[in-house]
Amino acid sequence: MVGVSLGSMKKLGRWIGGLNVKVRAAGAIVLVALIVAGVWGVNTANSRAALLRMDPDLEAMDAVSMKFALGRGHGIYEKNCASCHGGGAKGDQSRGVPDLTDNDWLYGSGLTSDIETVILYGIRAPNPKTWRLADMPAFARPVPYAKEPGIKPLSPGDINDMVQFLASLRGAPFQADAAGRGAKLFSDRGGCYDCHGDTHGDSAIGGPNLADNIWLYGGSDKTVFQSIAYGRAGYCPAFETRLSPAKIRETALYVYSLSHQKSPSAK
Ligand code: HEC
Ligand code: HEC
Repeated sequence: MVGVSLGSMKKLGRWIGGLNVKVRAAGAIVLVALIVAGVWGVNTANSRAALLRMDPDLEAMDAVSMKFALGRGHGIYEKNCASCHGGGAKGDQSRGVPDLTDNDWLYGSGLTSDIETVILYGIRAPNPKTWRLADMPAFARPVPYAKEPGIKPLSPGDINDMVQFLASLRGAPFQADAAGRGAKLFSDRGGCYDCHGDTHGDSAIGGPNLADNIWLYGGSDKTVFQSIAYGRAGYCPAFETRLSPAKIRETALYVYSLSHQKSPSAK
């Protein structure tokens, strides 16, 4: 065996020796490139496996791996998310697309795992695990919300009172008596508290905070009137079958990083 392989090694050596210098140099370059690509491939696979094993909400990764994941996440974001959420991830109120940099969340509390759930299953997306607990009823329609027949329509005057009440919450100019009637409506006939809590929203069902100045659809009196009168039901696609689990985690870490200076840390 040894004799044979030694013999063939010698033959190979003589054959390489017989090649011209340029061919030998090119061969060496190809060999080095193959080794580098191989090591890089194994490293990438290892980093991705480690990424999937870790608890996404813990600072379990070293800075180098985190930088690597965020770099990849940024690229995946640009390809799959920027068309709606924008290159700077600032969203687009005219289409009801939320800003992902403001650390204000419709669903969950903004942990990487919450973000990952949205990316996997989407919002009102055709996926069995999607977020679809409630829509914003259309209070100007005879049946505001088919899923909850108990919700009754409001008159344009009622809706205007609600608009004035919401303006008073965010410190915008408002008509005091209309706002007073709106406040009452909010918790009785309007049933708004069911989904928006005490006006600060309910992140378990995706009811936005109505008392801050962060708007999904815009905070002018006219837009707020439209939200209440005609309803809202935004859609974010599910990526469960479109991106690998590693890519989804990389994207979630990237989105998390947009509103956090530091990488994910335990709560
Ligand atoms: C059945 C649950 C439900 C009820 C009841 C409800 N809302 Fe909503 N509301 C939502 C959801 C969910 C959204 C977000 C829709 C989306 O994500 O596209 C929303 C969105 C809104 C918005 C838009 C917020 C923004 O950031 O642009 C306003 C304004 C609003 N609701 C006001 C009201 C008022 C006032 C009432 C009571 C008259 C009310 N809602 C009752 C579920 C509800
Ligand atoms: C077709 C447009 C569209 C695309 C593409 C899209 N999104 Fe969304 N996304 C939305 C809309 C609209 C909402 C708000 C849904 C609602 O009203 O509840 C949303 C909501 C979200 C939220 C929840 C924000 C919060 O405040 O809780 C996250 C996180 C998110 N998207 C991340 C992503 C990521 C990451 C991608 C790419 C992998 C992506 N989205 C692709 C339209 C889109």
